[in-house]
Amino acid sequence: MKVREFIENKIVDIKKTVGDEAAISALSGGVDSSACTVLAHRAIGGRLKVIFIDDGLMREGEPRQVQETFGKLGIGVDIVDAQAEFFGALAGKTDPEEKRKAFRQTFYSVFGREVLKSRARFLVQGTIAADIIETKGGIKTQHNILEQIGIDPEKAFGFKVVEPIKELFKPEVRRVAKELGLPESVYRRMPFPGPGLMARVLGEVTSERVAIVRKATVVVEQEIRKLAPFQAFAVLLNDMGTGVEGGRRKFGHVIIIRSVESRDAMKARPTPVPWDMLMKMSRRIVKEIPSVTRVAYELTPKPPATIEYI
Ligand code: XMP
Repeated sequence: MKVREFIENKIVDIKKTVGDEAAISALSGGVDSSACTVLAHRAIGGRLKVIFIDDGLMREGEPRQVQETFGKLGIGVDIVDAQAEFFGALAGKTDPEEKRKAFRQTFYSVFGREVLKSRARFLVQGTIAADIIETKGGIKTQHNILEQIGIDPEKAFGFKVVEPIKELFKPEVRRVAKELGLPESVYRRMPFPGPGLMARVLGEVTSERVAIVRKATVVVEQEIRKLAPFQAFAVLLNDMGTGVEGGRRKFGHVIIIRSVESRDAMKARPTPVPWDMLMKMSRRIVKEIPSVTRVAYELTPKPPATIEYI
């Protein structure tokens, strides 16, 4: 792929598609939506409204970091606080596909509202090739795939979807993001799923349970950074493990550390993490999150497992 040519062509395409209308970009701060946002901003400038939906499922400090990064690029980002709505929709749900569907429905109803408020007729989003392949293949319901599964977003939500990078795989998106002038912290960023930490909380997704996995994620990301894995994170299981504290038994949460190497997320193998690093992560997690009694490292490649837990 010729990166510059791709960028120039996409800017022309977006200009043509959006015409004199306004568009809204669903920015999450990941490399996909960041690249799309800059592409669309170059195409239509001030007619692009950029919003970041704070669904309560992001990593530590993420909403503010995203706003700062784009502020430096001269692109303003409005943060929409929709935490209560997402947790409301997820309450009581434990089935992975039900959780994904509830997330997707909430995602589009919040965005739909924002689009109407902004009078935008188009939603720009960072769907990539792997998202489409996996949803079509019935592997899982990605939150951002609609047309490919027979939902017409215009009829359902009142806007058209523009997906400028839907034919690209992750490594190509990184090259486009770099060429667009995004900082290394964005173009090298580990993939993070659209439904955020929800994909890493088995069982019911409550703000308390998300807070546990968020803290464990900080530890994993900090400690594993120098190995530069494709993707590394923490997962909260839906079971309790026995522990001991002050000579007494206590039931606590179980955290799984998952780290994988992959080219494009279609296949993956576990990162060979050095023992000392694993032990340090384990010690820090039980110390910094006293309600956790057990930490384990996941050893399954994809396939047969997927990278995320739901
Ligand atoms: P799996 O778990 O299917 O993940 O092996 C493959 C890659 O996709 C990411 N992922 C998602 N990304 N929306 C996204 O934008 C989603 O619903 C979603 N589910 C998984 C995952 O983090 C991995 O990089």
